[in-house]
Amino acid sequence: MVTSSLLLPLEQHKVVVIIRGIAPAYMSDLFQALYDGGIRMAEITLNSEHALESISMMRKAYDGRMMVGAGTVLNEASAKDAIAAGAQFLVSPNVDEGMIRYAVANGVLPLPGAMTATEVVQAVRFGSPVVKIFPCSSLGPNYIKELKGPLNDIPMLAVGGINEDNVAAYMKAGAIGVGIGGSMVNKEWIHSGRFDLIRDYATMLRASMGIMETII
Ligand code: 3PG
Repeated sequence: MVTSSLLLPLEQHKVVVIIRGIAPAYMSDLFQALYDGGIRMAEITLNSEHALESISMMRKAYDGRMMVGAGTVLNEASAKDAIAAGAQFLVSPNVDEGMIRYAVANGVLPLPGAMTATEVVQAVRFGSPVVKIFPCSSLGPNYIKELKGPLNDIPMLAVGGINEDNVAAYMKAGAIGVGIGGSMVNKEWIHSGRFDLIRDYATMLRASMGIMETII
């Protein structure tokens, strides 16, 4: 498998934060907290309220400082909308050929979601330089280790149920990085204005992965 330059930010930053179901009004504070906690890649899922507006707004605010992606990009039409709004990477729970090919053709990293070896290989055949293994909450770190036996040269991102207690195990199992949602983007913290807890969680998670410094 040829290594793609599209993969470089993921290799460097290792953590993709998944923002699902958060209203645009909270985005600025949330992104500031993530940025202060050292996060440099965050996706806003397209099934969130006014997702494209949030993507566009955060892309403008963090251009050159943080990568803003779109999540739950299920097909090519959504990929087009997301990239037009400014998304710099696209994540999905499924393997959709149109989404993958459109992203790569536009110089945008696709992160298609797959579970079985067949799906993982199919995603790579469609041109993806990396595959999101999902839902890891039901699979566990050992699943990645076992997939990496035959598929050792395919970079895999672990997503689903990631938290401070299991992140190191996923990295040790061979994941290139992790996607993390609810443990970090905690809705109670957001709705009570405790963005400091999100910043601290991000800092702590990165430290537990051995990432002490962030360069961008
Ligand atoms: C999602 O689809 O929202 C992701 O899988 C996030 O999962 P998490 O909240 O379990 O990290």
